Amino acid sequence: MKIIMLGAPGAGKGTQAKMIADRYGIPHISTGDIFRANIKNGTKLGKEAKGYMDQGLLVPDELTVKLLLDRVAQEDCSDGYVLDGFPRNIPQAEVLDRALADQGERIDYAVDVEVADRHIINRMSGRRACVGCGATYHIVNVPPKKEGICDVCGEALILREDDRPDTVTKRLAVYHEQTQPLIDYYKEKGILKSVDGTMPMEEVFDAITRILG
Ligand code: AP5
Repeated sequence: MKIIMLGAPGAGKGTQAKMIADRYGIPHISTGDIFRANIKNGTKLGKEAKGYMDQGLLVPDELTVKLLLDRVAQEDCSDGYVLDGFPRNIPQAEVLDRALADQGERIDYAVDVEVADRHIINRMSGRRACVGCGATYHIVNVPPKKEGICDVCGEALILREDDRPDTVTKRLAVYHEQTQPLIDYYKEKGILKSVDGTMPMEEVFDAITRILG
């Protein structure tokens, strides 16, 4: 099963994508996580991506598309995957569709996690991310067992650089301009499914599993 997660920054795509990956035994592929791992490791890609990410802008397609296509071509993706953060604009969606069509494949579901902008800033300022394994928490909704420490790997939790309110505002603007048009793109293809992302996360997940079966 090949699934795309859609939704505004902070809508809960990553949270739900991890749960889907666990339930259905498919890899969770987050382009944001891949860029953050590259930044942490000081790679050339990471240095290039960081400048865009810190400003709340999209990383250029030249740096993003091949990376994603190489990733989904790997062996562990043969039974499907859940994409979180890709595609981010219509050109990325078209490249992905063409690459899949060349192999007689296609995306099965595009799941839009709907959360209005007014909820987003609060969610993002409360989010904490692990510098070690990338696990995410929320200081109120999903607190770690020990404040500031990751339950999974014991490393420190940080506020992501791009989760500061002024950068979140920019990311929301970029989302509405460049990413939201994907909702109509997948609606026209007949594979768009929407869920209310303001419900508690287990209820959001139940709604998604009712769709995916
Ligand atoms: P990326 O990492 O993809 O960020 P994003 O899309 O902005 O999404 P987030 O990770 O911020 O949020 P999310 O929806 O996953 O929410 P989460 O589950 O964490 O991208 C970062 C940057 O990388 C981009 O700005 C861009 O520069 C670059 N990039 C990435 N992909 C790219 C691409 N394809 N092309 C170009 N550039 C690209 O949840 C948020 C918080 O809310 C958490 O604290 C969570 O615990 C909490 N929460 C989740 N669900 C609920 C719930 N139901 N109720 C209450 N709280 C909840």
